[in-house]
Amino acid sequence: MTVPLHVPCWIESDGVEVWLVAGPGRGRIPDLVEAERVASASARLGAVLAANADADDPERVGQLMSSGYRRVFSMVELERDTAPLATVSAPGSIVAVTDNDADAMHQLTTVVWAGRPFFAMPTLESYRSWVRNADPRLMLLAWHDAALIGYVAVKEDPTRVEVVDIQVHPHHQRRGVATALLAQVVQEARHRCSPRVWLETEGDDPVGARRFYEQLGFRLAAEHLRFRKPADTTADPAAGLPVLAERGAG
Ligand SMILES: CC(C)(COP(=O)(O)OP(=O)(O)OC[C@H]1O[C@@H](n2cnc3c(N)ncnc32)[C@H](O)[C@@H]1OP(=O)(O)O)[C@@H](O)C(=O)NCCC(=O)NCCS
Repeated sequence: MTVPLHVPCWIESDGVEVWLVAGPGRGRIPDLVEAERVASASARLGAVLAANADADDPERVGQLMSSGYRRVFSMVELERDTAPLATVSAPGSIVAVTDNDADAMHQLTTVVWAGRPFFAMPTLESYRSWVRNADPRLMLLAWHDAALIGYVAVKEDPTRVEVVDIQVHPHHQRRGVATALLAQVVQEARHRCSPRVWLETEGDDPVGARRFYEQLGFRLAAEHLRFRKPADTTADPAAGLPVLAERGAG
């Protein structure tokens, strides 16, 4: 018996319907053609087909390009060893999170991420739960004059420490706050005998986060490319493609 191909589908925050026809690890041409057929049979007007490929997989990238896809953005994995970061002077003081800090963190996020496309604001309740369950040594907050001006959250796995989130209030950016937060993360990773600190960020660097990490010695470990084309194959492939669609899935 042949199992019908399942093609994941979701609606972006801008209302665009996206069909992931070639996720990680699959989607060579015969598979892709079948996935496109399944997706296009159910797709709404204006829907797009999405396909992923790693930058170090030229065969797959070539297959997608020759099938009419075009690259719309990339996510990069950056990593660094745990050699200490140079000491910087930054405003405020850095302390471990407490259960009372979730509301201030949520409020900071609403300011830092305001207006960023394709960002779904987490709920206050999700922040409270995140903080309640956090290891306080892995969630550090920067305070200045009783106001929260930044935080970093990391998680540990057996091979590395991952930076899950780092943000600094716009009024306090470019003053060394994130560097000071990250220096403590690197120190904690070293203390835990974790050899590497790792994270994912946007390859095209719309807000300077990639430059921030690279300036602190993080280097490219992998690049995951995201491709799109209209689901309606009679449409002009260059028309109406949302340049920033889909940041998380796949
Ligand atoms: C990325 C972010 C955390 C940096 O915080 P910050 O406190 O301003 O960073 P620092 O002051 O420690 O910056 C250290 C260096 O990184 C580089 N850097 C930082 N922000 C940069 C930017 N927007 N563009 C280019 N380079 C930047 C600079 O070399 C800077 O040194 P300089 O100011 O002397 O030139 C902050 O911009 C932010 O909160 N952005 C929004 C949230 C976000 O995108 N987080 C990353 C998610 S992966």
